[in-house]
Amino acid sequence: MPSYVVTGASRGIGWEFLRQLSNDPSNTVVAIVRDKSATEKRVLEELNARPNIHVLHANLTDYNSLKAAAEESGKITGGSLDYLIANAGLISAFDRYDPIGVLGENPEALEADLLASFQTNVIGQIHLFNLFMPQVLAGNTKKVIALASGHADLSLVQKFHIDLAASYTISKAALNMAVAKFHAQYSRQGVLFLSLSPGMVDTGLLAGLTDEQMKSLGGMVEKFMKYAPDFKGPSTPEESVRDMLSVIEGASVEKGDGGAFISHKGDQKWI
Ligand SMILES: NC(=O)c1ccc[n+]([C@@H]2O[C@H](COP(=O)([O-])OP(=O)(O)OC[C@H]3O[C@@H](n4cnc5c(N)ncnc54)[C@H](OP(=O)(O)O)[C@@H]3O)[C@@H](O)[C@H]2O)c1
Repeated sequence: MPSYVVTGASRGIGWEFLRQLSNDPSNTVVAIVRDKSATEKRVLEELNARPNIHVLHANLTDYNSLKAAAEESGKITGGSLDYLIANAGLISAFDRYDPIGVLGENPEALEADLLASFQTNVIGQIHLFNLFMPQVLAGNTKKVIALASGHADLSLVQKFHIDLAASYTISKAALNMAVAKFHAQYSRQGVLFLSLSPGMVDTGLLAGLTDEQMKSLGGMVEKFMKYAPDFKGPSTPEESVRDMLSVIEGASVEKGDGGAFISHKGDQKWI
């Protein structure tokens, strides 16, 4: 009876993890979300209140809420956890359409955006990993997966001059290092830590954009097309999660995957 914790399971990729993992009634899936009642309602309406789903509240910016969720989750899963999927993340809207030098014209706003991104995408994840570590160590599978972003690949940004999403990608690059540090400490005890990029996935971020915003993003997509000429557009959450689950199953400390930063394809091809 494998056990899973998925953060950010209210929508997007996290919801799809919840949906696919709970398809198997022998899996126990704990969803950690900010709005517990909204997610419970969605589970009731769309997944017929599957009994193997348990919804808990926590906010990555609130240590005590994470601590309470970890304690509650441990009671549900019998004190051990097989897979921790750290999916929740802050995808900043502030940094999405302008390069870092333009963002810097409003230094207070840039600083606030950098801090908010770091708080959620780095510090919150580190607290999450630490709080669940005793349960992961007691689990059978011992896999901790952080949702990374290929966009935070230094060589991609460097070679293709991808200048948008500075706060977001800086925080995701820092998350990769945090994952590597956890690997450095815990691989000896058999725990796999992995930074896993989902590819470019349509989770509704493009809805309702102005023409100017579309133009800005269009420029970035053109650069991605140069990077991956066969790119046909974003994948669905369903495809991405299916691919990621296959990578998660195949990855192991023994094979040298610990602390790595890889894509849903299991390599470093990001889209
Ligand atoms: N979509 C892509 O193309 C793509 C590409 C690369 C990486 N990723 C990464 O994949 C993950 C999921 O992406 P997505 O597209 O599904 O994002 P999304 O649709 O924006 O969903 C983000 C999720 O994170 C939760 N969340 C945000 N801040 C939180 C906080 N402080 N505490 C707890 N939960 C919080 C949100 O909860 P609420 O519902 O309460 O807001 C939501 O469930 C993210 O880590 C993202 O960086 C996505």
